[in-house]
Amino acid sequence: MERKVALITGVTGQDGSYLSEFLLAKGYEVHGIIRRSSVDYRERIAHLEGTPNFHLHYADMGDSMSLVKLVGKVQPTEIYNLAAQSHVQVSFDAPEFTADVDAVGVLRILEAVRTNHLENSCKIYQASTSELYGKVEEVPQNEMTPFHPYSPYAVAKLYGFWIIKEYREAYNMFCCSGILFNHESERRGETFVTRKITLAAARIAQGKQDCLYLGNLDSLRDWGYAKDYVECMWLILQHHTPEDFVIATGVQHTVREFATLAFHHAGIELRWEGEGINEKGIVVSVTNPTNAHLVGKVVVAVSEAFYRPTDVVNLWGDPTKAKNELGWNPQTTSFEQLVQIMVQHDMQKVAADHVASVMRTNLAEYLEKGIVK
Ligand code: NAP
Ligand code: GDD
Repeated sequence: MERKVALITGVTGQDGSYLSEFLLAKGYEVHGIIRRSSVDYRERIAHLEGTPNFHLHYADMGDSMSLVKLVGKVQPTEIYNLAAQSHVQVSFDAPEFTADVDAVGVLRILEAVRTNHLENSCKIYQASTSELYGKVEEVPQNEMTPFHPYSPYAVAKLYGFWIIKEYREAYNMFCCSGILFNHESERRGETFVTRKITLAAARIAQGKQDCLYLGNLDSLRDWGYAKDYVECMWLILQHHTPEDFVIATGVQHTVREFATLAFHHAGIELRWEGEGINEKGIVVSVTNPTNAHLVGKVVVAVSEAFYRPTDVVNLWGDPTKAKNELGWNPQTTSFEQLVQIMVQHDMQKVAADHVASVMRTNLAEYLEKGIVK
């Protein structure tokens, strides 16, 4: 029987968790790399731990030895290199760390495969990004659009893209990049703009937060659902030849549009007033009468703290090649459905967090009063 053994770097991240589920359902033996840390960040994959075909190993993208040893031990047939310092704004504060993990890390994976003489049997997927288009030179962007990276993160990812291409041509390795446009979900990190908005909308609707501060509201993104995108990572490695693919929905929206829709699903209608740093999102109406006091209040404001030294403002992908050659449907989940899924999830999360915190407070009080011993 054909061995189907996947090694996923970045398994604890948004995409790593969905990809693990996807590959396990396809009958793969899945191995994931986790970093040693004093705090446990395995929340997204906690439900998979203990699954017979799911294995976790300690390694680090900054440590070639750990990668070489692990690749030798696991003998993967497919590697999905998802690990990265993936936050664009953070890359301005930690450019060297970002380069080490996001650029040289890719080289370390490639060399780990070669050192273990697996270059003819192991396929490699590299998590590349629409950030490569950066200060965009054409819209929409496809596989032929020139790159113009516009952050330390994008420059590091550009190295990753080219070293993958280089090893494909120099050593005939089956290694490819998926140039993925933004994809979001209820598992998205809380500092990325979409999740920051859906969590804040839920908190404001439940009286847990007064105002949401954002940066550039005019920024345009092509947002898809992460659960749909991990299928493409797999499809790219099943293609008959190693090639790079743009993965996107082909639909573009502003940050402002995302926020308006997210608040709508949280039961709050917004209107926008002012421009640039002075723009505000003001409540026009609410569905829940207990939120009547919010009408006329500013619940979204702009803060310079969330502006970037250089910002990518016009991402719009053309997924024609993925549609035609991989048979992938870029419209499986629409923008409207995505926002709704995320807000519904966060409304429940905020409510559950509230119940948990009330229970903790009650317990503390009962312990203090000796009611519970
Ligand atoms: P994410 O949630 O931020 O996950 C990043 C993962 O990388 C985490 O598991 C993290 O581990 C791991 N990691 C970071 N540094 C590491 C190191 N030194 N050694 C080992 N692991 C390390 O990112 P994501 O949204 O799932 O994205 C997955 C990949 O796709 C990333 O490479 C990202 O740059 C790329 N990408 C994402 C999008 C998007 O819209 N989501 C679009 C295009 C490309 P910890 O849990 O220990 O931090
Ligand atoms: N994070 C954040 N926070 N972004 C904001 C905010 C804010 O408060 N306000 C406005 N924005 C704008 C950013 O300036 C950017 O133009 C846009 O919202 C999206 O920001 P992020 O959600 O942080 O994502 P990103 O597009 O920079 O990067 C993500 O997508 C890339 C693919 O294009 C990450 O997942 C990258 O890893 C990925 O490569």
